[in-house]
Amino acid sequence: MRITIFGTGYVGLVQAAVFAEAGYQVLCVDVDADKVARLARGEVPIYEPDLQHPVVENGAAGRLRFTTDAARGVAHGDIQFIAVGTPPDEDGSADLTYVLAVADTIATHMDTETLVVVKSTVPVGTSDKVRAKIVERLAARGRSDLQFDVASNPEFLKEGSAVADCTRPDRIIIGVASRRAEERLRELYAPFNRNREKIIAMDIRSAELTKYAANCMLATKISFMNEIANLADRLGADIEHVRHGIGSDPRIGYNFIYPGVGYGGSCFPKDVQALIRTADQIGFDAALLKSVEERNNRQKSYIVDKIHAHFGPDLGGRTFALWGLAFKPNTDDMREAPSRVIMEALWAAGATVRAHDPKAMEECQRIYGDRPDLVLCDTRDEALQGADALILVTEWKAYNIIDFDDMKATLKQPVIFDGRNVYDPAAAKRHGITLYAVGRGTRNG
Ligand code: UDX
Repeated sequence: MRITIFGTGYVGLVQAAVFAEAGYQVLCVDVDADKVARLARGEVPIYEPDLQHPVVENGAAGRLRFTTDAARGVAHGDIQFIAVGTPPDEDGSADLTYVLAVADTIATHMDTETLVVVKSTVPVGTSDKVRAKIVERLAARGRSDLQFDVASNPEFLKEGSAVADCTRPDRIIIGVASRRAEERLRELYAPFNRNREKIIAMDIRSAELTKYAANCMLATKISFMNEIANLADRLGADIEHVRHGIGSDPRIGYNFIYPGVGYGGSCFPKDVQALIRTADQIGFDAALLKSVEERNNRQKSYIVDKIHAHFGPDLGGRTFALWGLAFKPNTDDMREAPSRVIMEALWAAGATVRAHDPKAMEECQRIYGDRPDLVLCDTRDEALQGADALILVTEWKAYNIIDFDDMKATLKQPVIFDGRNVYDPAAAKRHGITLYAVGRGTRNG
């Protein structure tokens, strides 16, 4: 079985590498010639642990190839994956321009029966639009005789562990409208379905909604905990005790109940928004999802509020060390990252930021360019030099252990704002450090 994947973004590239690693002949098509050339040389344009190796190895073995030539792509695959981006429109709904353009391209070049699989996260009903687009183009070509199936096969990979998630998936959701499509997808995924049955087949619309429901549920858990953290602050409780207490109930569980400075990244914010817009479009008020989003937007300013409460409204002349720019550890991705909201608020109040991140420094430079109130520091210690206080935004392992005495000696004021509840309040107190955390009281100790 030969596979063509349109789109070498996060999802497309990881899936392509994993299929090639399983032994399939994979051809990736992308309109970005520069990216295609780099990938063909084995250069991976994104930071994702464990991705470099399969891209290089399978590239060298001739199982994973890249092209800008769509006609060649369509001719190659028995299965055509659509894995291009669906950026949010101005109103937050997913922009389907690229997805439908690929559908059109496939229909323009296909000359045998084919299976088109939508992998991009798309609103419910998109696969129908893909089908309609293909029907329209085939009719225009006078080739309505050509048979095809459309299927939905959403991905569930997490940045930072994308290759592992894709190689050993929890579940493989396939949304199909025919036995032929189901059988072909079962065959395709057989190498990933060995230990236990992971394939869950359903109708296409349910598959499309499953993806949104999963991400919105996880986002809801986080916003829920952040809301309780705000309550804990005001009620004099410690959210970390509460988290332990509720997580022990298996119906709740310990996963994804960490309070913090809000969720970011390319999925949760976009998908919550897109489902709200989908609901709006059909006249349903998705009140819960709107609150999830609202809580998250406010949560990104949580630390900023604490900083103002401590230092006052005017931060002119102040310098803050900021550790962690990426939206979460093990990625260089700063899309919707809380660090951005925090830095921008600090700049607006007149402060300077000395930032460090193990992987996202280049990305930060790309987003903000050179500006006098941003100093990108090569080491975490350098970021502390001349800083009034430290703000921890992303819980990289490299920030886990700190020497409170060193902190006290380096920072102008012994104050730490811990946006991820990494540091021990009792230890901070022993060393005379003021530690502001999330949902652990306005001032700990
Ligand atoms: C997510 C989903 O996990 C994945 O299944 C889906 O396919 C894409 O979206 P990702 O965006 O890579 O993956 O990151 P994830 O590890 O899920 O974290 C998302 C955000 O939630 C991060 O900003 C993280 O800091 C935050 N988070 C996560 C919390 O604030 N608290 C938690 O308990 C867990």
